[in-house]
Amino acid sequence: MAVFHGQDMRDYLARVSRHAMVKKIRDQGLDLLEVSRDERVLDAGCGPGDMAARFAALGAHVTALDSDPAMVEAAGEIPGVTAQRGDLATFDSPAAFDVVWAERVLQHVPDPDRVVGNLVRATAPGGRICLVDVDWSGLVVDGVDDELADRVLGVFRTLVPNPSMGRTLRRRLVRQGFRTVEVTAFLGVSTELADAAAVIPVLDERLIPAPGAWFSALRDADERGEFLMALPVYLVLGAA
Ligand SMILES: C[S@@+](CC[C@H](N)C(=O)[O-])C[C@H]1O[C@@H](n2cnc3c(N)ncnc32)[C@H](O)[C@@H]1O
Repeated sequence: MAVFHGQDMRDYLARVSRHAMVKKIRDQGLDLLEVSRDERVLDAGCGPGDMAARFAALGAHVTALDSDPAMVEAAGEIPGVTAQRGDLATFDSPAAFDVVWAERVLQHVPDPDRVVGNLVRATAPGGRICLVDVDWSGLVVDGVDDELADRVLGVFRTLVPNPSMGRTLRRRLVRQGFRTVEVTAFLGVSTELADAAAVIPVLDERLIPAPGAWFSALRDADERGEFLMALPVYLVLGAA
């Protein structure tokens, strides 16, 4: 997300990893992928490598790739993980992996279809590719004035290169020639501002330049017990 850099990004990713919904999505992805010992796994746009660590714990040979050197350094400290700096837009490793995992990276890239194409080419015949992404355009907040919410959420969406990425994942794999793409959608619902603000930047006043009225409206709704936020996340699985 464009609003995060450096330590802010690392703190944000750590908070997201601890969130119950993210844990549920990752568990589901692992269940669907059924990674076996010695399979070659790519964690594309790995961040600090939380999923790379899960794959390595299963005995897979894991490559964790990211364009941010700090993320590569962090992932490289995980036992059993080979960390590599690289740009997914130019990634070229034909049929090198049995499993490819890309979580919340495609929303950030300028040419998502190009990256998906590179990831599909990196998937060996008989392999699996799993893409996970948020649909920021589907983020809704209740308990505050609708017009104010629309205005702030509208600005927020302009900060993310591909705010509707989640809903487009299936189509992007279909365009790459996949006949079967399994889709699982998750709706994260939070009724406590602190819980939601930990993972949703537009609710965190340290990170988003929004009018003071927005944050006071959120706090008032929370105090009245009326705050609600819902955010869809999609997971798609294609078998090569
Ligand atoms: C929101 S983070 C998600 C990290 C990790 N997948 C996770 O779920 O915790 C997005 C990551 O994608 C990386 N990234 C963005 N564009 C990239 C690109 N073109 N090539 C490689 N990595 C990229 C960023 O550096 C960042 O670490």
